[in-house]
Amino acid sequence: MGRVSLGILASGRGSNFQAIVDEIEAGKLNASVKLLIVDNAGAYARERAKRHSIEHLFLDAEGFPTKEEFFSRISEEFRKRGVQLVVLAGFMRVVRRPLLDAFPLRIMNIHPALLPCFPGLHGQKQAVEYGVKLSGCTVHFVDEGMDTGPIIIQAAVPLAPDDTEESLSERILELEHKIFPEAIRLFSEGRLKVEGRVVRITGHRVNGEAIVNPPLS
Ligand code: GAR
Repeated sequence: MGRVSLGILASGRGSNFQAIVDEIEAGKLNASVKLLIVDNAGAYARERAKRHSIEHLFLDAEGFPTKEEFFSRISEEFRKRGVQLVVLAGFMRVVRRPLLDAFPLRIMNIHPALLPCFPGLHGQKQAVEYGVKLSGCTVHFVDEGMDTGPIIIQAAVPLAPDDTEESLSERILELEHKIFPEAIRLFSEGRLKVEGRVVRITGHRVNGEAIVNPPLS
């Protein structure tokens, strides 16, 4: 595919957005960020965009008569700038039509748990409270469900007996910053083939196509 044009959606801190920008600037990811849209005026992700001279926009969902109109505007802003892949980097809303229809299998999300376990908010807290021994993070394509779309990459983290939501979140976040740029890289290289709900990674050197904690470049 060559250089892929990204549209980013974020709600807060933006460390995943930063990890993607860093990989691009280091020449390790053949992509460019066309626009960052935040749905929260105070999102720190905006400061990061300013620092890297990336165009950014705040859209207040409450200012739109319906959710569909909010997502229609997002879709319009991305299309105007030639966005090819939409990246949800800590975007705390369920994506709706018409954005879904405008970018079919062209929207990726990062989730801080091993889906299909612990979807929705506070994936790390859910894992600690459930008492699982392994959790992690998942990059997946977005469909109309809540964290239900085809899974692209997962990475696992063992839980320590004294883990809290905070300590687990920190360890998971380190892996998020690796697998999200990696998933975008695979997309940009045209290596993601979706069959039903299964994403096949073509030409991957590790473990056939079932990737768990791949050696990341
Ligand atoms: C990340 O841990 C991401 O996985 C999570 O929000 C955090 C955003 O951090 N996303 C979700 O929970 C989505 N349901 P960041 O703003 O520093 O990238």
